[in-house]
Formats: sequence, C-alpha cells, structure tokens
Amino acid sequence: MSQISLTRGAAPRPTDRAQIIVIGNEKGGAGKSTLAIHIATALLHAGARLAVIDLDLRQQSVGHFFASRRTWSQANGVEVPMPWAMPLADDAAQLAKASAEDQAVAFETAFATVAAEAQFVLIDTPGSDTGLSRLAHGKADLIITPMNDSFVDFDMLGQVDPVTLELVRPSTYSEVVWEARKQKMLSERRSVDWVVLRNRLATSEARNRKRLEERIDVLAKRVGFRVGPGMRDRVIFRELFPFGLTVADLSSTVRPVPVSLTHVAARQELRAVMQSAGLGDLIEPRSIGGAEGAAPKSAGIKASARVYRPVAASPQR
Ligand SMILES: Nc1ncnc2c1ncn2[C@@H]1O[C@H](COP(=O)(O)OP(=O)(O)O)[C@@H](O)[C@H]1O
Ligand SMILES: [Mg+2]
Repeated sequence: MSQISLTRGAAPRPTDRAQIIVIGNEKGGAGKSTLAIHIATALLHAGARLAVIDLDLRQQSVGHFFASRRTWSQANGVEVPMPWAMPLADDAAQLAKASAEDQAVAFETAFATVAAEAQFVLIDTPGSDTGLSRLAHGKADLIITPMNDSFVDFDMLGQVDPVTLELVRPSTYSEVVWEARKQKMLSERRSVDWVVLRNRLATSEARNRKRLEERIDVLAKRVGFRVGPGMRDRVIFRELFPFGLTVADLSSTVRPVPVSLTHVAARQELRAVMQSAGLGDLIEPRSIGGAEGAAPKSAGIKASARVYRPVAASPQR
C-alpha cells in the first residue's frame, strides 16, 4: 500500500456518525491537554453534542478541567456548556492500575457507547506510547498534534541530520500515525486527516523558527500532514485552567480574570486553530466585554448546525 493511498483519495467520512478527534503527540508538555480543552470549549459553545475521553489516566488534566468547570460555574451561579458525556472520567485512577486488556475493554465499551450518539468524540492522549493511546489513534478521523517550537519536539516527528539539519526520516510519532492510518484504511477504507500545530510560539526566535519551519514543511509532504497556524505562548491559555474555563468561555458574565485586549487575540488564534482543523467557524466573533458575549449558548444543535462544515477526510487542502 503506497503512502499516498493512506492520506488521500479515500471515501469521505460519513456525516451521520460522530467525528473522532484525537489530540496526540508522544512528547509530554507539547500542549495536548491545553489544546484539547480549548477545542472542546469552542465546540461546546457552538452547541456540539460532545463526548470527551481523557486517556491520560494518571494526569487527567482534561478530566480535572471539566470537574473544576462544574464546580466553578455552580459556585458562581453561571451556566457554561458541558460535554454531553465524559466516559471513564470517574474510573480513571482505578483504570490506570488495571491490566492492559482490562483497560482496552473499558475503553472500547465506553467509546462504542458515546460514538453512537455524539457529534464529536474528542480524545486527549498521554505523552507516551500506551495501548490505549494506540487504540484511540486507530479510531481517529482527525489527529491534531501540537508541538513546541523546538527541535526537541520535532524529534518525535522526524529525525534530522546533526550536521546538515536535513530531514533523514520520519520518527516515532509519525510511525504511530502511519499505523493508525493503515488500521483505518483496512477497517473502514478511509483516510485520516492529520494537522500539526506549533504551540507556545515566542516572538523572539526567528532563526530557530525558520529552520524548524523548513523541516516541518518537508516532513509534512513526506508523511502527509497539514500544518496549522499555531498558538502563541500566552498566560491566558493557562491561567483559566483552575476555573475550568478557557478564552472561548469569556463573556461579560464569565470573567474570572480582568479582561484585556490580548484575550481577543487569543480567541482569534483559537478560531484559526478550529478553522485549520476543519472544524469550521465554531466560535462566533463576540466582544468579550460586550453584552452580546453575555451568556454561553445552551446546546442548540439545530441553531448551530449550519456552522458544521463537512470535514473532508483528505489532508490535501
Ligand atoms: N499556548 C500556550 N501558552 C501558555 N502556556 C501553555 C500553552 N500551551 C501549553 N501551555 C502550558 O504548557 C504546559 C504543558 O501543556 P499541556 O497541555 O499539559 O501538555 P501535554 O498535555 O502535551 O503534556 C502546561 O503548563 C500548560 O499550561
Ligand atoms: Mg496532557
């Protein structure tokens, strides 16, 4: 089977079943959980029927985020949209100690239940190669990989020659995605879209960034991923975490920190991420301080249905 056949030309994803989004990168600290909660809240504000599965059974960053979200919103008497389902969240600590077989059964059962009824299933994965992470990758329609703007992070995707810095070969995580694509093609005759986003971009690293960009572009063509717009290193992308909130939630009633202009820029970045991932115009532009941003929309799927563009399975866009 040629490389090309795994990354394009397959039947498009049927629109009558959930879209499976896997946030993955075997590098810890790349920004997976941060990206997961931002994408999740953006989808929720668009009224999506969203199931969230946190497969980092030990860290449970996404699980903790949504638990805090419930507590914060109840304590403050405001409504914020919640996932329709979060299977495995209550059993994560116990599941972490279970055998690989038991973990796989628990995941498959939970996944089958929610995938049958959700619009989106968003899966956050741990920063290591676990059986559960592989299972999740094998189910993905869309894999989103954040990476820090660093050759240390690039090393998980592609190996470069230490003398010339030319790309030598795809490496560990690219192979995981390759396997996932193969599985998907064999089981469903469909391709998997893969988007790589650079995260925590700093303003000052022009030379390092340019070198990295060139290698990423070469690798993108070689293994078949799209390169997304990236997110800057911003305090607002981390400081709302303990409240269970993100910039997608900020409004005149949901405002746990003083609002600033940089939040508008941060929302714009999130919007660009959603668009590049093919998740459409899911965040409506609204003034964070203004009245129109007041209440989070309750999950009106019909009302927001128009914003869901069908996502092409091919990465060739
Ligand atoms: N764009 C960003 N701006 C600021 N801090 C970020 C950003 N992305 C991630 N972080 C921070 O980097 C650290 C690692 O992020 P995390 O999402 O936990 O990575 P992973 O899930 O891949 O291990 C966390 O402290 C998080 O708050
Ligand atoms: Mg994480």
